[in-house]
Amino acid sequence: MSRLDVHLEAALDRITRAGQRRSLRASALLPGGRIERAGRTLVDFSSNDYLGLARHPLLAERAAEWTQAHGAGSGASRLVTGTSEAHLQVEAKIAAFKHCEAALLFASGWQANAAVIPALLAAMPGAAVFTDRLIHASMHAGLAIAGTRQHRFAHNDLDHLETLLASKGTDAPARLILTESVFSMDGDRVDMARLVAIAQRHDATLFVDEAHATGVLGPQGRGLSALVPGQVDVIMGTFSKALGGFGAYIAGSRTLIDYLLNAASGFVFTTAPPPAVLGAIDAALDLVPGMDAQRSHLTVLGERLRAGLAARNLDHGASSTQIVPAIIGAEDAAMALSARLEEAGFLVSAIRPPTVPPGTSRLRIALRAGHSLNDVDALLAAIEAQQ
Ligand SMILES: Cc1ncc(COP(=O)(O)O)c(C=O)c1O
Repeated sequence: MSRLDVHLEAALDRITRAGQRRSLRASALLPGGRIERAGRTLVDFSSNDYLGLARHPLLAERAAEWTQAHGAGSGASRLVTGTSEAHLQVEAKIAAFKHCEAALLFASGWQANAAVIPALLAAMPGAAVFTDRLIHASMHAGLAIAGTRQHRFAHNDLDHLETLLASKGTDAPARLILTESVFSMDGDRVDMARLVAIAQRHDATLFVDEAHATGVLGPQGRGLSALVPGQVDVIMGTFSKALGGFGAYIAGSRTLIDYLLNAASGFVFTTAPPPAVLGAIDAALDLVPGMDAQRSHLTVLGERLRAGLAARNLDHGASSTQIVPAIIGAEDAAMALSARLEEAGFLVSAIRPPTVPPGTSRLRIALRAGHSLNDVDALLAAIEAQQ
């Protein structure tokens, strides 16, 4: 065992003793809301492939075509020789989809948040930062890189945000609010109109992560920021969830994008997304506006699931989207229930601290448009039987 491994084994022991050791398991997404794992086909309530686009033939075809035409790699970072016509066209298409002046591609959502937040704060020296308590780890990574202290408001509590802005924000030269439009572990949504009004009242810049709203919510799946056109300064979203592919975008003003392509380290110092990724994004953007039937179906599935959980005295929090938690409480109980459901043919992730606050371990049920009402009813019956 190397010197390093000695340290790492000790660290892994601590993780194991805390009951938080994780490992990788192979799975393969299947159409119809199914997934294959260990040779079994399970009903998949764990993936974020909400619209079923990950296995859509048009995405696979265009990814293959663009690879055939342009190769497997992009050769360099965007500012060197990595920008192709396809990058510029796809970015223009994203900007049009989001009704923004401009957009910029990033390798992943994690990378976008971790790169863009410190870049923004570098241009806003002394800014006071206000964050929802449940923002994604990638935004925390961005804040850690920036070395900025954050004022955290209670989850989705806009009154608390406003109180903090009034008490901690007035002396600062600028204010930045970071939140999500749909929260990844709770499936609740922010009140965009009110958030925008508060940001304007306090002269604050607004950054909204639309990772789980893009493709699913808002007119034609344009996200909840589309409900307040032109009012969110920085919109971040991903292609890795409902859009069935990989990568992320930032959308906003031309000035924002010009600044980020000069200043966001995770954009400047990384290789440009390759043609296959761009092809899949391009195809998804062609399909998503026309997928109202799938979006309506997800709404119906969500309502059925929440009603069924409530009827079984299970807390689904404030979910109003395709993400529905069944809050169990204790970590081991949530883990055990998830394992029993897998035995019964349903893949439903158990989420526990540190991803969610202590005492709120849960099943995170992610609905896919390929699910039927029968799938939801069968899951509810299985939860009842296994609880
Ligand atoms: C809210 C939120 N932001 C960002 C990300 C990161 O996106 P990606 O998976 O594309 O890195 C995720 C997904 O894990 C997320 O849930």
